[in-house]
Amino acid sequence: MTEGIKIATIGGGSSYTPELVEGFIKRYDELPVRELWLVDIEEGKEKMEIVGNLAKRMVQKAGLPIDIHLTLDRREALKGADFVTTQFRVGLLDARAKDERIPLKYGVLGQETNGPGGLFKGLRTIPVILDICRDMEELCPDAWLINFTNPAGMVTEAVLRYANIKKVVGLCNVPIGIEMGVAKLLDVDHSRIRIDFAGLNHMVYGLDVYLDGVSVKDKVIEMITDPNNSSFVKNIEGLGWEPSFVKALGVLTCPYHMYYYKSREMVEKDLKKAKEEGTRAEVVQRLEKELFELYKDPNLDIKPPQLEERGGAYYSDAAVRLIHSIYTDRRDIQPVNTMNRGAIASIPDDSAVEVSCVITKDGPKPIAMGDLPVPVRGLVQQIKSFERVAAEAAVTGDYDLTVLAMTINPLSPSDTIAKQIVDDMLEAHKEHLPQFFNEVQA
Ligand code: G6P
Repeated sequence: MTEGIKIATIGGGSSYTPELVEGFIKRYDELPVRELWLVDIEEGKEKMEIVGNLAKRMVQKAGLPIDIHLTLDRREALKGADFVTTQFRVGLLDARAKDERIPLKYGVLGQETNGPGGLFKGLRTIPVILDICRDMEELCPDAWLINFTNPAGMVTEAVLRYANIKKVVGLCNVPIGIEMGVAKLLDVDHSRIRIDFAGLNHMVYGLDVYLDGVSVKDKVIEMITDPNNSSFVKNIEGLGWEPSFVKALGVLTCPYHMYYYKSREMVEKDLKKAKEEGTRAEVVQRLEKELFELYKDPNLDIKPPQLEERGGAYYSDAAVRLIHSIYTDRRDIQPVNTMNRGAIASIPDDSAVEVSCVITKDGPKPIAMGDLPVPVRGLVQQIKSFERVAAEAAVTGDYDLTVLAMTINPLSPSDTIAKQIVDDMLEAHKEHLPQFFNEVQA
């Protein structure tokens, strides 16, 4: 890579884009981004223009020579890119609302990355990401793909398994959110905290937690029994943990574990919320309206603090520090989604895992974590099986595999209900699932 970096951001019209731009501005001295190409589809054009203009004002205020390009032409944006970041949502927030509402009818969790919602978001997203990978092979074969699109674990698994590009990293803000949250709980600067992360995306555990190199895991586990301390992201309301359970579990949970270890309470809470204020997608739709109104203000030239009310807070820190470390061969430790390569003994070597890695110019090198503790190993393996079957279903458009994926997901109560949910959701998402409906052309 030579001086001056070209970044292409697919899903550039996302309300999260100012996060990314802020990150590039902050690190410009060591990460000289020359061009930032925001790409979106026709339906996202208006949002992209609003957010793109804000990005231009932010760069101008910072006095930096970063050219912001807005385009609907993905191929033009990809040409010669050094890094491609993906943050798109197939079917927009309307599709997310369906992922959240439909399963609730069956008493099953409605959430965009877990259970039926996670499965269907994966089915919609994987063909698109594989298409982007094919374009990258042709137009920017040396670029890194930094995928933030959910379900990030399943999507990374699919790219590793079905695409020809090798330079891919899946990224999530949950680990960084946990680090920040733990620092806040302990009232220390986050740079003093280190967590050994191991598991899968939205199914990651902190095997140990250190403050200045000394383990504080037991203290932190004690603290997360308090509902106010038990979630580290804005989109999940923590319900607190049974002290006996988390102490005996012996590792730090992530917010998404609430859906697995407190399934009944979470479904009841979500049902109540869906009635009173709408599902998370519906709440976010309202939040986004406000955000875009703010973004339109020609006097606004910074990332508005309201953006931090979204679940994806610290996204830019995670994305930009990763790109920075690859670009400068920094060799610091960051938790990312990458090929396991033996780092976690209980997961296949060629599968995607979320694990603490040393970040080099050749990408993340996973740190060996040994075997997962017995109490968490089974659940992680089951989710990995789900992700692999789901990725295959997304690529093949195979109905039986889809029912299989849904049934083996631990949030599914039975094969019959799994099939009913699949049927309902296939119909609801028809327009974004061509692999299931289009006749194969002879
Ligand atoms: C999180 C997750 C992200 C997710 C986001 C949703 O913290 O890690 O994967 O996209 O929240 O936030 P939202 O504000 O859209 O509900």
